[in-house]
Amino acid sequence: MEKQDVRLSLDEARREIESLREQIFYHDYRYYVLDSPEISDAEYDELMRRLRQLEAEFPELITPDSPTQRVGGQPLAGFQQVEHRLPMLSLDNAFSRDDLLAFHERVQRRLQGQPVSYVVEPKIDGLAVSLLYENGVFVRGATRGDGERGEDITENLRTIPSVPLRLRTKNPPPVLEVRGEAYMDRQDFDELNRLRAEKGEPLFANPRNAAAGSLRQLDPKVTASRRLNVFFYALGYHEGLELESHWQVLEYFKSIGLRVNSLIERCSSIDQVWNLCERIHGLRDSLTYDIDGVVVKVDSLAAQTALGSTGHSPRWAVALKFPPEEATTVVEDIIVQVGRTGALTPLAILRPVEVAGSTVSRATLHNADVLKAKDVRIGDTVIIRKAGDVIPEIVKPVESKRTGKERIFTFPDRCPVCGAEVQRLPGEAVTRCIGKACPAQLVEGLVHFASRGAMDIEGLGPALIRQLVDAGFVKDPSDLYFLDPEKLQQLPRMGKKSIENLMAAVEASKKRPFARVIFALGIRLVGEAAARELAAHFRSMERLMNASREELQAVPMIGDRIAESVVTFMSEPQNRRVIQRLAEAGVTMAEEEETAPAARPLEGKTVVLTGTLSKYSRQEAAELVRSLGGRVTSSVSRNTDFVVAGSNPGSKLTRARELGIPVLSEEDLEGFLKE
Ligand code: IVH
Repeated sequence: MEKQDVRLSLDEARREIESLREQIFYHDYRYYVLDSPEISDAEYDELMRRLRQLEAEFPELITPDSPTQRVGGQPLAGFQQVEHRLPMLSLDNAFSRDDLLAFHERVQRRLQGQPVSYVVEPKIDGLAVSLLYENGVFVRGATRGDGERGEDITENLRTIPSVPLRLRTKNPPPVLEVRGEAYMDRQDFDELNRLRAEKGEPLFANPRNAAAGSLRQLDPKVTASRRLNVFFYALGYHEGLELESHWQVLEYFKSIGLRVNSLIERCSSIDQVWNLCERIHGLRDSLTYDIDGVVVKVDSLAAQTALGSTGHSPRWAVALKFPPEEATTVVEDIIVQVGRTGALTPLAILRPVEVAGSTVSRATLHNADVLKAKDVRIGDTVIIRKAGDVIPEIVKPVESKRTGKERIFTFPDRCPVCGAEVQRLPGEAVTRCIGKACPAQLVEGLVHFASRGAMDIEGLGPALIRQLVDAGFVKDPSDLYFLDPEKLQQLPRMGKKSIENLMAAVEASKKRPFARVIFALGIRLVGEAAARELAAHFRSMERLMNASREELQAVPMIGDRIAESVVTFMSEPQNRRVIQRLAEAGVTMAEEEETAPAARPLEGKTVVLTGTLSKYSRQEAAELVRSLGGRVTSSVSRNTDFVVAGSNPGSKLTRARELGIPVLSEEDLEGFLKE
């Protein structure tokens, strides 16, 4: 730390830079290859920060293999061609157990009955890449291209964190070319498409296309922004290595920091091979990445050489392909479903079709943006994809099959279930129904309404709520206050005592403070803290209901989005009716006079928050402190009056103890509310 202010000599800088790079490479390796990090992100960031700082001071010490150089690179005008020293072959396909046995027989025949072991690997559905290391340093990377020559994508590969810029070995071979598959995790693919849909950009059809598109970018900064990954699975041209089997190659890869898939196993019989193929097939849906089969490779490198290859595929390996996860069918209709939280999801009703072993008759179109980006129309022939355990989705329409009779679907502006207005908040992809009485979201809304932080209706949990809704006794939250005890007896497991208790709990909830009533309404984005703020500021439901966007925005902590959400909620007649009936029932509809002006027991005090609190988000806790008159700062110093610590507190707690600053619990903090 102290070093930062002192100008280092070139030698000192060189030593520290080298040590930082070593540490960063080690932690990259722990994180990206072993999947087992040893330090926190913050500590890692600190190493990177220091390295960047030193390199800025001593630019002459920057080398291309520095971890800071992953995201450098100027956009290229075009890709250079790269000739592969050894051709990058492709694989013959097998589709059944019989095909696999036939492969095994061919191998045995050519090896004249010598015993043969195999290595079985998942076939990653990405794109093949070749990486060249000279004396352990990454110097060039290429796509497969036509197998003889590919494109130079060195700068793009450099941006992938699981590509080591230097091999983890003291004596690297002078030349080592390795091959592997670059790919994108399904989740990262979904997220990328979500962002693209939001920006109105064309979507990628699947993770493979997304990975290929990301690597064939002339601007490495774009590649760097995409989450790509590599599994290494083959040796290319090399000098100075003595290895006997493919298994040893993979072990060697791991030892020098090259990421190898963890499902790979060695098998000594073809039955074992088949069993493993089936097992990997069974895991297909649970993996984070797409696989389209398994690759079976003869283990012995001598046997591989003896077997040789035909024109473009080796005789020592075969790809056993799984049934495809994509199929073609017709969109018969598009409907919109309303989920438990009011989210509207467009769904395509499909002519039923077999995909990867199951029949698919519906596919999600996610949201209005995705629907628009994919331009799927009723009557379209479409490619659908069922990958992982996700709901099947539409990849794209087959435009050449359009007849002109297809109908464009327009997203509804009213909820298809209850007719209330739908709302899409700025920055959100989801369109929601805002109806408080919407049957689709009634149960969820009531659970929230009755919950502890809201109206706190004791004994009214999800199971009883469902019963009340199913019996038709409750159609919106206000109905809870007009329940007929006689009728409740019809419900199963509702004895006299339970009914009395429920009625008493409902009665007691009428006295909850105004802020809790606002919170209980379940207005999007209005959490407990915002509800308190609104209550304190408007003081009555009447005024809150009639507040304009500008008036709302003028309230501290209420931003544009919350203001928008409140205005839309209050303008929905359905919601005004619910509020009206709650008022008729005698629920608190205004701030009680004696609580104002609010007590400010933390007036002039400086408070630091650390760890996770159970009832409040960090922001809400900060608001609470401020509403009690206190000031929240982010680091502990001698000027701090209190530290509020939740679970898993960080170094701030340690620091507070060192300085002898009083540490409070969440309950202590709440205690101030009662003062
Ligand atoms: S070995 C000569 N192993 O499949 C053998 N390929 O159709 C070279 N692939 O171009 C390939 N996972 O892109 C091998 N574990 C794996 C693989 C794999 C995916 C791809 C690779 C190759 C294609 C062959």
